[in-house]
Amino acid sequence: MEGALATSNFCVPDLYPGNAAHAPRSRRLSYISPAASSAAPQNPSHRRKKKSTSSPPPSAAASATVLTSPPKQIEQQQVQEEHSDAAVTRIATTARTARISSEPDAPRKLPPRSRPRARAAAAASLPVAFCNALEEAINTFVDPPALRPSVDPRHVLSANFAPVDELPPTRCPVVRGAIPRCLAGGAYIRNGPNPQHLPRGPHHLFDGDGMLHSLLLPPEGSSGSSDPVLCSRYVQTYKYLLEREAGEPVMPNVFSGFHGLAGMARGAVTAARVLTGQMNPVEGVGLANTSLAVFGGRLYALGESDLPYAVRVDPATGDVTTLGRCDFGGRLSMGMTAHPKKDPITGEVFAFRYGPVPPFVTYFRFDPAGNKAADVPIFSVKQPSFLHDFAVTERYAIFPEIQIVMNPMGMVVGGGAPVGADPSMVPRLGVLPRYATDESEMRWFEVPGFNMMHSVNAWEERGGDEIVVVAPNVLSIEHALDRMELVHSSVELVRINLRTGNVSRTPLSAGNLDFPVIHPGCLGRRNRYGYFGVGDPMPKIAGVVKLDFDRAGHGDCTAARRDFGPGCFAGEPFFVPDDVEGNGNEDDGYLVCYVHNEATGDNRFVVMDARSPELDIVAEVQLPSRVPYGFHGLFVTQAELRSQHQ
Ligand SMILES: [Fe+2]
Repeated sequence: MEGALATSNFCVPDLYPGNAAHAPRSRRLSYISPAASSAAPQNPSHRRKKKSTSSPPPSAAASATVLTSPPKQIEQQQVQEEHSDAAVTRIATTARTARISSEPDAPRKLPPRSRPRARAAAAASLPVAFCNALEEAINTFVDPPALRPSVDPRHVLSANFAPVDELPPTRCPVVRGAIPRCLAGGAYIRNGPNPQHLPRGPHHLFDGDGMLHSLLLPPEGSSGSSDPVLCSRYVQTYKYLLEREAGEPVMPNVFSGFHGLAGMARGAVTAARVLTGQMNPVEGVGLANTSLAVFGGRLYALGESDLPYAVRVDPATGDVTTLGRCDFGGRLSMGMTAHPKKDPITGEVFAFRYGPVPPFVTYFRFDPAGNKAADVPIFSVKQPSFLHDFAVTERYAIFPEIQIVMNPMGMVVGGGAPVGADPSMVPRLGVLPRYATDESEMRWFEVPGFNMMHSVNAWEERGGDEIVVVAPNVLSIEHALDRMELVHSSVELVRINLRTGNVSRTPLSAGNLDFPVIHPGCLGRRNRYGYFGVGDPMPKIAGVVKLDFDRAGHGDCTAARRDFGPGCFAGEPFFVPDDVEGNGNEDDGYLVCYVHNEATGDNRFVVMDARSPELDIVAEVQLPSRVPYGFHGLFVTQAELRSQHQ
């Protein structure tokens, strides 16, 4: 595989012959970045300059052999100095000191810790050294990552899945077409996993620290430079800050670490770290690596295993800062879905959390100002399942119960995985009035064979007697976590008749389609078009397909398609309505995404006309740095950027 990790049983000096003095002492693996990354960018003037030094190069995007060492302060400064646009960098550095608001729902700033700052000091701690040694023994003798390719960093973090360093705000040229006016002054931000440290042992794609890749587009009529500005920053979660201080991984990898006997052993090590004060899970265990949302005057980075982290994109400089972990005045606890739903008419936001102990699902909502209402526990969910997304209509919230279940006791008793597929379970959809204060009116409908991981949209028909749900159905659910290359998702339209209880399913396309988006103004209302990534495999996206839901029942509903070409892959497309020059049609707008060329190393921001039959590319921006494949993105308008709370 291109860009496979160079690894062995191994110490880092072996990977840096003649350069051992610069090799991190505790690292066990070293990446060889994608062959693509060593290729010359199309526009050398925007390439990151390398210093003439014997040290390992600081960026995975800058060299063929790269050590993804922790982004220590000195390295960040070096990267900033290396950029040609000193003005942008200088402003960005200042912006990162922004103060946090004292509003009731203000993000909670992480308290300072008395832990030693230097890794050398940390290593001198006996409990730390003891726990590290135990983990080494588990990783070497009980659960070597190579035994399971889905959690072997040499596979998981190869090619354009390899992490990159942070990138301060850096100008990028428009190399094709022109940026549409409806994008002016806004920012496209993509979230995704980007592990800060080389993993000690098993590492699943979902285990990486969240990094935001934000492209700020110039405002209309801007004077001076009108280049877009790319900035890549970690979400500064508790885990990120803790491990940045420690200089090494401290918290366990949730998706890959708790498997069988080794998982139990790692659980014991984790307990020891908590008891000896090395970590405090109360401060958060999440990665904030999945998606973004904007509501109540704030922008949030989301990961469903933790509270939202408030972040901010500076509308002047493009820099991205983390404001803090947000519990909404103490009203939100434990976690929140990465897929909240914002009603385009009322401005309300609907969300939920799920977990391994009853109630397995808890539903809640926020008013337009971002104030959270009371929890609605859902006790009718009898078994904890992987509830990644849901849907809302004007009057209902719809929850899927799918065949991926959590079974922590199965790991303890039987030595299995804590999360896995249960083919004996019949998938269900639960329908709850969206303003319910309890679950007394909730109804569940069995939908055999329908495993909904993401939703596209839902609405009501026949005077509210029928609910329509459009979603990709994961046909090979047993592979959803361990063999993602085998997963195939087929988009279906499901009708639920609330009067008769009848349920029907209509396939809309046979393609492997996921990462759906729609016109955000249509959420919860009947709409016609959805836009999907073509998995090759997911989350690598070889193209974008536009489906016409009005063709349901008449064969394949594909209305438009664009393939990015051999070796070129994107992430999730995002639809931005053209509210400037459009005619009010639902598909008046543009699809935006980052595209990586694995053959040349070229990285671009691509804008496609959603109205055209071939989703014509109308603008491209040359990016100065690689954006790894990731998860979900968001376009934040200029007005939303300017109205962000401090
Ligand atoms: Fe998702």
